[in-house]
Amino acid sequence: MCGIIGYTGRKDAISVVLEGLKRLEYRGYDSAGIAFFSGGAIEIRRREGKVKDLLTLFEAGTPVSRTAIGHTRWATHGRPSEQNAHPHRSDGVVLVHNGIIENYLELKRNLAAEGYIFTSDTDTEVICHLIHRYAEDYPLEEAVRHALKNVKGAYALAAIHEKEEGKIVGVKKDSPLCVGLGQGEYFVASDVPAFFNHSKDVIYLDDGEMVVMTEDGVMITTMEGEPIRKEIVSIPWSPSMAEKGGYKHFMLKEIYEQPRAVADTLRGRFTVETGEVNLEEFGLSEEEIRTFGKIYIVACGTSWHAALVGKYCIEEVARVPVEVDIASEFRYRNPLIAAGDLLIAITQSGETADTLAVQREARRLGAKVLSICNVVGSTSAREADAVFYTHSGPEIGVASTKAFTSQITSLYLFALAVALARGRMTGEAASGLQQELLSLPDKIEQLLGSSEEIEGIAKELFRAEDFLYLGRGMHYPIALEGALKLKEITYIHAEGYPAGEMKHGPIALVDEDLPVVFLAPKGPLHEKIISNMQEVKSRGGKIFSLVQRGDTVVSELSDYCFSVPDSNPYLSTILLVVPLQLLAYHIGILRGCDVDQPRNLAKSVTVE
Ligand code: AGP
Repeated sequence: MCGIIGYTGRKDAISVVLEGLKRLEYRGYDSAGIAFFSGGAIEIRRREGKVKDLLTLFEAGTPVSRTAIGHTRWATHGRPSEQNAHPHRSDGVVLVHNGIIENYLELKRNLAAEGYIFTSDTDTEVICHLIHRYAEDYPLEEAVRHALKNVKGAYALAAIHEKEEGKIVGVKKDSPLCVGLGQGEYFVASDVPAFFNHSKDVIYLDDGEMVVMTEDGVMITTMEGEPIRKEIVSIPWSPSMAEKGGYKHFMLKEIYEQPRAVADTLRGRFTVETGEVNLEEFGLSEEEIRTFGKIYIVACGTSWHAALVGKYCIEEVARVPVEVDIASEFRYRNPLIAAGDLLIAITQSGETADTLAVQREARRLGAKVLSICNVVGSTSAREADAVFYTHSGPEIGVASTKAFTSQITSLYLFALAVALARGRMTGEAASGLQQELLSLPDKIEQLLGSSEEIEGIAKELFRAEDFLYLGRGMHYPIALEGALKLKEITYIHAEGYPAGEMKHGPIALVDEDLPVVFLAPKGPLHEKIISNMQEVKSRGGKIFSLVQRGDTVVSELSDYCFSVPDSNPYLSTILLVVPLQLLAYHIGILRGCDVDQPRNLAKSVTVE
């Protein structure tokens, strides 16, 4: 996701916007830019890198301007560079955008045929030229309305036009946009922190709403131009909370961003009507996907847990053998990977040294490398043969949460692509599973709505010094992930184990002081899990179970129980990990830990 801000009023617009960009930098930080009215024209200054790099372009002084728009980028289409940085322009129309335009390729082809020259690789530039097509004949707000009729996807945008100095037009659809109300000055931004120290009076736009602002005031309308009245909210935050969007910690914010992260990762990647998966997004041809010999998935930490879930998905759905390994092990065991094989490297940061080393070794041995990565232009992305970007937005908290659920979502889509390419699944069956995928963001939202139950359970368990997490099948990796979250956030020792393995040793640990967390979704292994629970119960163990709605058998065996919405078995992995993320977070808070920057850890391990 990116950060956008616009200002019009009596103050120094450039300084207000540059300051706002610094406060939005948590939303994306690979390039930044600003556009401002000066001398009757619009000037644009952009830089690759962080906002501090953009500031160097004003060392000789800041021109006087009363209206400006700015952007800090987290790239989704087009690598981080000055030419891909926002704002973008089409003659006198200038624009900043946060979101993903699904049909940009089709629109780009049509506009190029009309003679428009594209200067960037971004989807955003398409919107600029579309507005320009109408801007000569209509006021800016009308031109924007006409332009967006052709656009599919998510957008929060702010546009200005040389002909109408002082006016900013903003529109919201699927990406956040809010309006700040000052005295004779007005703001539009992705998030409140951008203008928080100038105004605490905010209007939150809803999808399909437009704001037209000049220094004389603000008008909110529908996309048909009908004025609408909106509630003005007064924000009671501290500046530091404002940077986290009102959450106390980035980790909690990112846990709550998972519905959007999954939705953005899915957006534009398949056609649910036909069941087709958009292979362009994987950077692989159908022929390649059909003919790979063996698939290896290699990663570290939480990403390795996603890889383990991916194995279950791909082998079950596509019936193709998958070998999963930890990057630091794989590269030293003289791996058998060879030409004709596929290596999938999963890495949130795209900079993990062990994973990068495996990518290089696999390519040296002749294998094709697909990177599933969350940072556009990262080393992993640049060195891979193909890249599938998770669009979960920048993950600031050291503990990986939304990137993990986006990785599983990506692997599930890849499994469908392989199954379709190899004739293991019909388009109709794929379409049904894609419908389930589309329901996932709402189901995550639902379970986040009852997260105070998890906080209550955390208060019961936070003094324990050991935890055991147990799961079967594809929920075994989720047990591993739950244990890792607890370890890295609370410093409590925790182990994830296959539930069937407990009786081969770990059961010796069971006593009344050991909380045992069971992942107990419905399915073919449900009865087995119940047997394992009874083995723990009979030895006085304390049981916290995660179940799907209505499972009274498991809840009666449990000391604590939390239920998640029913779903397809593969998607239950995503729904079941979210309560475990929250459990680790709340126990960390209760134990006074620094949940965003735990001791000894780094967000990206760029050394071996
Ligand atoms: C996850 O909570 C940890 N911070 C860590 O295990 C992380 O997943 C691992 O270092 C891999 O990072 P990457 O996904 O950026 O490669």
